[in-house]
Amino acid sequence: MKLIGTPLDRIDGPAKVTGTARYSAEFVLPGLVHAVMVTSTVGKGRIASIDTRSALAEQGVITVLTHRNAPHAKQAKSGGGVDRYLPVLQDDLVRYDRQPVALVIAETFEAALDAASRVVVRYDSTAPVTRFANGETYTPKDIMGEPPDLQRGDPDGALKAARFAVDEIYTTPVEHHNPLEPHATIADWNGTRLTLYDATQGIFATRKRVAEALEIPVDSIHVITEFLGGGFGCKGSAWPHVVLAALGAKAVKRPVKLVLTRPQMFGSVGYRPRTVQRLALAADGDGKLTSTIHETTSQTSSFDEFIEPSTMITRMLYAVPNLRTTQRLVRLDAATPTFMRAPGESSGSFALESAMDELAYRTGLDPLELRLRNYAEKDPSKDIPFSSKSLRECYRVGAERFGWSNRPKQPRSRSENGMLVGYGMATATYPTHRSAAAASARIASDGSAQVVSGTQDLGTGSYTVFTQVASEALAMPIDSVHFDLGNTNFPSAPASGGSQTAASVGSAVYAAGNAARAKLLELALADEGSPLHGRRASEVVAADGRFSLRANPAIGERYTDILRRQGLDHIEGYAEAKPGSEQKEYSMHAFGAQFAEVRVDPELGTVRVERMVGAFASGRILNAKTARSQYLGGMTWGLSMALFEDTRTDLRTGRIMSANLEKYLVPVNADVHRMDISLIEEEDAYVNPIGVKGIGEIGIVGSAAAIANAVFNATGVRVRDLPIAPEKLL
Ligand code: MOS
Repeated sequence: MKLIGTPLDRIDGPAKVTGTARYSAEFVLPGLVHAVMVTSTVGKGRIASIDTRSALAEQGVITVLTHRNAPHAKQAKSGGGVDRYLPVLQDDLVRYDRQPVALVIAETFEAALDAASRVVVRYDSTAPVTRFANGETYTPKDIMGEPPDLQRGDPDGALKAARFAVDEIYTTPVEHHNPLEPHATIADWNGTRLTLYDATQGIFATRKRVAEALEIPVDSIHVITEFLGGGFGCKGSAWPHVVLAALGAKAVKRPVKLVLTRPQMFGSVGYRPRTVQRLALAADGDGKLTSTIHETTSQTSSFDEFIEPSTMITRMLYAVPNLRTTQRLVRLDAATPTFMRAPGESSGSFALESAMDELAYRTGLDPLELRLRNYAEKDPSKDIPFSSKSLRECYRVGAERFGWSNRPKQPRSRSENGMLVGYGMATATYPTHRSAAAASARIASDGSAQVVSGTQDLGTGSYTVFTQVASEALAMPIDSVHFDLGNTNFPSAPASGGSQTAASVGSAVYAAGNAARAKLLELALADEGSPLHGRRASEVVAADGRFSLRANPAIGERYTDILRRQGLDHIEGYAEAKPGSEQKEYSMHAFGAQFAEVRVDPELGTVRVERMVGAFASGRILNAKTARSQYLGGMTWGLSMALFEDTRTDLRTGRIMSANLEKYLVPVNADVHRMDISLIEEEDAYVNPIGVKGIGEIGIVGSAAAIANAVFNATGVRVRDLPIAPEKLL
């Protein structure tokens, strides 16, 4: 492997900085008109009346769609997975705050926006259920195919009998995605065919969902997503605005552009649900865990289901004989939650890794030592080996780079310039997912190669790493290989979620490149005009677009020579790659260690994260530069989760009070100080053909706990309710 692993600059970098990269809202179509959604201003109720006269009277306004005149769409019940129930102007029910209730379409965006403010909606509102205590609680059938509850041994008995124990409630708030690029869709009908330029993490999933809603065949829809300005889960499902854009375009017989405003990002496009987690740990005199109980309740909507699977990591992270994990859902009158970076692992690790820290203080053990004493050599939940696990190395390298041995041993024992200083750490892990994916690779007679797969680049580096993988498999120079994605005309690929893109699509691209190269070699070996004629494939090596004999590199020929002699314009390889039985034989996870140093102002309660150190082992790294950016983004989001993010709802009305970036805090550069990331080398022969584990989500896992633990070390105050706002430290 030569090209895989090099820290290549982003191939799409120049297009992005020069503005030539086309994001979904930036496609220019003849006759394009603009749509703006009107969204509900009550948390629950019915639409009593809608007066659109003033909006329609505005110059440039073409139509206003409401539940009275919108074209028909099927409000299909959620089918699980990434599918969500879509309220798209088919009835007068208001299920949550900011649900779409009308769509204004106008010649200009300004006219549509202004007219949207003139639509007068009157509601018969009813009191929404907004508190966990008042909502219907139930047990979900399964969590992505796994049972919702798990028990081994006698966790309650072991907890009661334990020498040391922790039994606390940890809570995480509702958090909303705020990618730079808001959701955006352009819908363009050509007869019965629909083209969608959509900001989506899954072009094929969007196609399927919209086809269901419009009750048209899947292959009459074409989805294009060339660039995304971030996704993080919110763009992993098709939401109402996608279908509304299509309905609007149908109604006005023109292409329609619908871009969400920042406040609308807090409406119908998902969020991380609030969690209430009981975490109980028990240990013997040596600090060996004897019992773990993790009971999570998270919110879902009144009409659909999403589970924040916070207990999943607790099942496998530490060796413990007695364990119970449970997941419950509570129905609230709010929009449906969805995936948000490391859904489950990020919220669950806050509880688990905070509790581990609390246990460390009770036992008097160093928090890192406690984790080492409970290191799981194999997956304790499935009793199968890990495909690879380099967590010890992550702990060692992270601790060394951080200077963990210099940690203040007693809480509130160190200060500098009037600030309390604290160190904290936590473990990170994320499962290695993989889905079926396909790709095709075409070697052309001009010496170039075109490789395509219908995957997405969320800003993460897909264009770059798949060009590297393709070049490696084709044995062609990187600048002769062009990789393209984001188009449902390309071979099918899964949604970019669950950190699965590199593993899934990388394996397909690798196989497609190999297939094209093998086909070309076959031609040469059978061709009397070739210097390689009559040789066996095993005698031949390939490099830089040329085949040659392993034993004598002077004997060989260029790919272009073969194609020209055969009179071929190109040769194409196609491959489908999918996981096999290895996922049953091995437990597959990436691991990491997070360290944080904080400075807390004892008078103001403000926390400054002075530095963070992360060490991660995620199998083979395709590109050290883009990988580092992924970890950096994850850790920064962990800092954000620890200190800032908090969607506030008015519990009387069910209305979100913080639906903008003035009230919903995310970190700015001044909040993010020294960040140190180590990529731990790891070979894994089992996960997939290219040996990669996901890196998209693990960076956030454990980072909030590491900061919360550092805050305890600095102040002696244990905050079990995120975010760690100043008032909680005073
Ligand atoms: Mo990720 S939360 O699976 O987009």
